[in-house]
Amino acid sequence: MQDNGSPSHPCEEQAMVSKQEAHYDDVAKEYNKAWFYEDGTDYQRWLVRSLQTRLQAAPDSRVVDMGGGTGNFSAAFYKECKLEKPVLCVDPSRALLAQAQRHVSEVEPLLADGLSFVGTTAYNQAYDRILFKEVVHHFPQDELGVVFAGTFQQLRPGGRLVVMTRPHDSTHYPFFHAAHQTWKAVQQDETIYAQKLRTAGFDVSVDHADYTVTMPLSRWLSMVESRFWSTLHGFSDAEMAEGLKEIKARFLGDSQSASSTTHREQGDHKGEALGREERNDPPISFPDRLVFITGLKAKGGYA
Ligand SMILES: C[S@@+](CC[C@H](N)C(=O)[O-])C[C@H]1O[C@@H](n2cnc3c(N)ncnc32)[C@H](O)[C@@H]1O
Repeated sequence: MQDNGSPSHPCEEQAMVSKQEAHYDDVAKEYNKAWFYEDGTDYQRWLVRSLQTRLQAAPDSRVVDMGGGTGNFSAAFYKECKLEKPVLCVDPSRALLAQAQRHVSEVEPLLADGLSFVGTTAYNQAYDRILFKEVVHHFPQDELGVVFAGTFQQLRPGGRLVVMTRPHDSTHYPFFHAAHQTWKAVQQDETIYAQKLRTAGFDVSVDHADYTVTMPLSRWLSMVESRFWSTLHGFSDAEMAEGLKEIKARFLGDSQSASSTTHREQGDHKGEALGREERNDPPISFPDRLVFITGLKAKGGYA
């Protein structure tokens, strides 16, 4: 790790093997190929700006990306905000974090799970901004309060945290039925996260934004098959095959000609004229529905 004047990292050696680690080891190689994590896309630019609007990092802010994974997003955030110090990318997955080494000037990788990191008193009041992007559902409910309380300690007065997550209901994503059920069991309602942040001492506000995702059906199917989100991790190959069939049936119907029906239903009368390839692999669209929970540590807040 480079010496950039940040505190030493006593929690590094304590990184625990999280139960999600097996999932992230499996997907690490292909992680940045999933539509949501590709580098340099309009979606990534939109997301970076959406988060900066809420985090309000200044160039001299010390920023932590909790569960920052491959560091791709941390690096994009660093560039957009013209930060002067690398973003500290904290993650317990060795496989994902190894990829953060690519961003040496923008990202400082730290192998640690959230609980060990926030429990390290050496970091108290060491940071100005802490981002939890797509990670909050990984903390067990009884751990989350401790993690938020520790985060509150680590922020300087006037510091901010943003939790970016997704809703408890996932039915706007074209998954199969069993995947929606798994999602619901893991992803808490946003009001629960917001309440835990209030209890930790933050002034909290919640808002939402949608981004319309469009991609060929075949790409979505191969992302689902690769179990790109941890929701999909526990399904066996046989269950996955059934799930993919369910998704295909939804978009293609029983016969291949059903895709033109889909297009007509969407008000696209070009459906009849589609070539065979497009009939078998129509573009699909759905909203990526994001929840932003912003926590402010008031200037008079104690550490
Ligand atoms: C869906 S990925 C999001 C990665 C990154 N924030 C992004 O948006 O590209 C979830 C990340 O949370 C990390 N994670 C899982 N359990 C964690 C924990 N207990 N503490 C910190 N990070 C954790 C995973 O290793 C993974 O990198």
